[in-house]
Order: sequence, then C-alpha cells, then structure tokens
Amino acid sequence: MTSLLLTGIGSLVTNDPARGDLLGEVRDAALVIEGSKVAWVGFRRDAPAADGSLDLGGRAVIPGFVDSHSHLVFAGDRAEEFAARMTGTPYSAGGIRTTVAATRQATDEALTANVSRLVTEMRRQGTTTVEIKSGYGLTVADEARALEIAGHFTDETTYLGAHVVPAEFAEDPAGYVALVTGPMLEAAAPHAKWVDVFVERGAFDEDQARAILTAGLASGLQARVHANQLGEGPGVQLACSVGAAAADHCTYLSDADIDALASTGVVAGLLPAVEFSTRSPYPDARRLIDAGVTVALATDCNPGSGYSSSMPFCIALAVREMHMTPTEALWSATAGGAASLRRTDIGHLTPGAQADLTVLDAPSHLHLAYRPGVPLVSHTFIAGRPV
Ligand code: NIG
Ligand code: FE
Repeated sequence: MTSLLLTGIGSLVTNDPARGDLLGEVRDAALVIEGSKVAWVGFRRDAPAADGSLDLGGRAVIPGFVDSHSHLVFAGDRAEEFAARMTGTPYSAGGIRTTVAATRQATDEALTANVSRLVTEMRRQGTTTVEIKSGYGLTVADEARALEIAGHFTDETTYLGAHVVPAEFAEDPAGYVALVTGPMLEAAAPHAKWVDVFVERGAFDEDQARAILTAGLASGLQARVHANQLGEGPGVQLACSVGAAAADHCTYLSDADIDALASTGVVAGLLPAVEFSTRSPYPDARRLIDAGVTVALATDCNPGSGYSSSMPFCIALAVREMHMTPTEALWSATAGGAASLRRTDIGHLTPGAQADLTVLDAPSHLHLAYRPGVPLVSHTFIAGRPV
C-alpha cells in the first residue's frame, strides 16, 4: 500500500472532538494517506515519512462535503417555473409531475449522463459523498431504473416512489400507495439503502407515509423523510416515531417537533438552497442547534425547488441567512451529513477514516462563507485518490 504525505496545510479541519473545539482544527498541519484511508494527522513538524509528498503551500484542508439529500436522476429542467416563482407564483409539489413526464421519456443513457454531469459539478465543489434519490419515475420499471443508475455513482441510494401521486393515479391515491408498498418496493429494494416519503399537502398524508416507511423498513431499507417543508405537519413526528435517520427540510417546526428531534437524535437536514430558490423563509437553525438537535446541511439538488449542486453555496446561506456560525455550518456540511447517512467512516479526518478530503484555495475554511460564489476548491480526494 502506498502512502502520501500532504504537508504545508495552513489549517486542517479534522472534526475530531478529542482535539477540543467542534472542528478539531490543527494549524500548520500534515496528514498521511495510506491506500484509501487516513493513516496519520498532526503538526507538520511531527509528520512521519511517506512514499510521496505534496506541499499544499498553506491551503486549508477539510473533510469532503457529505451531501445527504439530492434528486439527480431526472430529465429536462424547470427554468420557466423558476422564473414564474421569481415574479410571485408560489412553489407547489405539483411541479414534480412535469419532471416525471420528461424522465419517463428519457433513455437510460440520457439519465446516466445527467447524473454524471451533476456529480462532476458536485465533486468540483468539494463534495465526496452524495445521497441520490429516485422519485421522478413513479412506475415500477422507472423507479427501479432510476435507482440502478444512481447506484453507479453512490452507495447512498434512496427509494422515493412516494414523491407525489402520479397523474394516472389522481383518482386512486390508495392504489398508488399499494403499488409503492408492493411491487414497486420489491423492484426498488435491491438497489436502495434508504426509503423516503414526501409528507406534505399535495403529496402524502401521515397514514400513507407511515404505511410506506413501515413497508420499506420491513424490506430492510432505512428511513428518511421529507418533512415540514411547506408548512407545519406530521412529517417530523413521523420520522421520529419510526426511527428514521433524518427529517429533511424542517422549515416549519412546532416546539413539539423540536423536542422530538432532540430526544430521538433524528438528524434535521436543512436545505437552504430550496428556500433561496423558492423565495421562502429559511428554517430556524439556531432554534434547532440551541435545543441540541444534530443538524446536517445538504443541497437537495433537483430541477424544481432548488437546482444548486453547491455545498459551499449552502454554507454561505446557512451563515448569512440562518445565523449558523461558519464553524457550525462546516460541521453540518461534513460530520452532520455523515450522521444523517449513518456513516462513521466519513465526515471526519482522523486515523482510520476514509481519505475523503477537500483542499481549498484559501488559508481557512472561513473563506467558504466569506467569499460566496467563488470557486475555492483546489483538489478533492475520494478514498485516497485525487478526482
Ligand atoms: O426536496 N420536496 C419534494 N421534493 C423536492 C422537490 C422536487 C421538485 O420540485 O421537483 C424537494 O424540494
Ligand atoms: Fe428533496
């Protein structure tokens, strides 16, 4: 196994709680990669020898971003819908059907090329792990193929047959839930780690969602939920009661929702690019963090509610608009994302972790929020290899 010494690191974010502060920051640092793993972390002056070395000239190194929520398997776009929103038309779940129609028409090659393009964008912006959902097929064959395609890019694949009731089932939502919990689940489960449901007016109600999550769990999938995006509702409580890993969106929360998240440890996924792109109020991150809830930041990259693939953009929004500190925002975009995906091997740079890391063209991670919109990623390593 060959080893590589990264030296000349001006600031290294380890997310190692043993180092005192939240980010476990080491100044004037070095890090050794052996094979696919982090082998050593410390001060530059103490670094051991390695087979090769790379001097980073004072750049900052952070754990690669863990984007725990995206919808990349789709065709077409909804730029006109975005333009209409910017002149006052509100966002509604119904727009999903436009993308469903385009996605069903698309070839496997076209869908794969679209995912590849977006994953490439993400990597260029420092993301090393991405969760990818189905949810724009909504037939047995189209959901299974979306997950199969997603599986070429990530192990974090999510079955979202319950994204919205498709047009052909408009008069028979119960029939659609039976399909989602029956034959569609059977076809999807071999290609998925997670089951998700959009709990919202215009999508699925509490009873439908509970049936869908319960069936997914019984098939060996783990649960995550689209919860409380467009208004208060039962999504967060449902996520907490079924033992989901994450309740994502969390834009409208009651005190009881906050208590449930804090007491169960369900991760709250905040997706501020959606509030930006739908011109909606941002979730109250401070209320969550101050109550002890674990917060993840993710893009939710999708053609409808928010079409950004950029974790640095989400960090800048979280800091500027949601009053997270730069430290909290970076933690949530790395370790928080890993917690949301129930992964202990990523989201931190400590010996034994997977060597997923992002080198910034900046002396400190603070520049991610301080220099919004500027491409600051100089290199990305996934499992020890430059990408
Ligand atoms: O997470 N909320 C549901 N699903 C996506 C939006 C999908 C769409 O509008 O196409 C979301 O925001
Ligand atoms: Fe989503």
